[in-house]
Amino acid sequence: MAGAQARQRGGNADEVSVTTEHGVRIEVDGEIATITLDRPEKRNAQTFATWSALARIGESLPEQVRVVVVKGEGPSFSAGIDLRMFTPEGVPGQGSFSSAAKSDDVTFEQRMRQAQAGFLWLRRPEIVSIAAVQGHAIGAGFQLALSCDLRIVADDVSFCMKEPALGLVPDLTGTKPLVELVGLAKAIDICLTARTVHADEAMRIGLAEKVVAGGDLDQAVRDKVAQLLAVNRDAAIATKRLLQGAQGRSLEEQCAAERLEQAARIKSLFT
Ligand code: ACO
Repeated sequence: MAGAQARQRGGNADEVSVTTEHGVRIEVDGEIATITLDRPEKRNAQTFATWSALARIGESLPEQVRVVVVKGEGPSFSAGIDLRMFTPEGVPGQGSFSSAAKSDDVTFEQRMRQAQAGFLWLRRPEIVSIAAVQGHAIGAGFQLALSCDLRIVADDVSFCMKEPALGLVPDLTGTKPLVELVGLAKAIDICLTARTVHADEAMRIGLAEKVVAGGDLDQAVRDKVAQLLAVNRDAAIATKRLLQGAQGRSLEEQCAAERLEQAARIKSLFT
């Protein structure tokens, strides 16, 4: 069920809005949006409703938001897909894998596309997304962290791409960023063994930007947010666009893209 509330900050006219839907909480405070998976008693297991809620947050994100923090309440960031999906009964109101197996190709493709929409928007150039990850980030949880631009992790983090061990593939937009971050060989190793990647390795192979003690995670994220917000907004958007396009372009094409973005910047700054 969806529920919404807005609270005033003491004495200030500006509002912090807080909305919760299907165990996903979104708090918008000026330029910062914080998304919290809030089903700690089930280790923030995700369902199709979680992914729809994430997609709706992406669709309705206020324009002023520059940084999106994604976190999980409790000891685990997220234990991945709700395992009830593997049972014949499934998740109430959301079906099961056995019901999905009976759907036609078009319906199946549409449903998966909707699920992926919950993850895709986190790459938008207009925002920088940060996953604050503690404890388990398994399957869909790992992929949610991979959907973010940056990962700041607690020293107890354990990433695991468990899908192949369960007969599935990772399909929630995580395979591309994984390969881009760690390289093909390491991605094959991580996925096809479904092994756990702990904090020290995550840092070494580029999965994490920073590892901190668990109690310091929130502060480390706040510090990163402050650094990001200190940079000119339009320059940040244009630079992220350039960086995101870099791998798909030749050097010549990338130089042309840099010239184009810079011309727009200089015109905007000096005319
Ligand atoms: N789906 C549904 N419920 C879950 C899930 C899940 N993925 N993960 C944990 N829970 C529930 C447990 O059933 C338990 O519920 P209960 O208290 O009603 O019995 C509660 O959350 C706490 O779980 P514990 O196992 O007791 O917690 P612990 O901290 O000891 O272990 C861990 C956490 C390691 C994450 C463990 O719960 C686990 O292995 N979960 C399953 C992980 C998994 O296989 N996910 C699917 C990945 S594939 C994909 O995402 C596509």
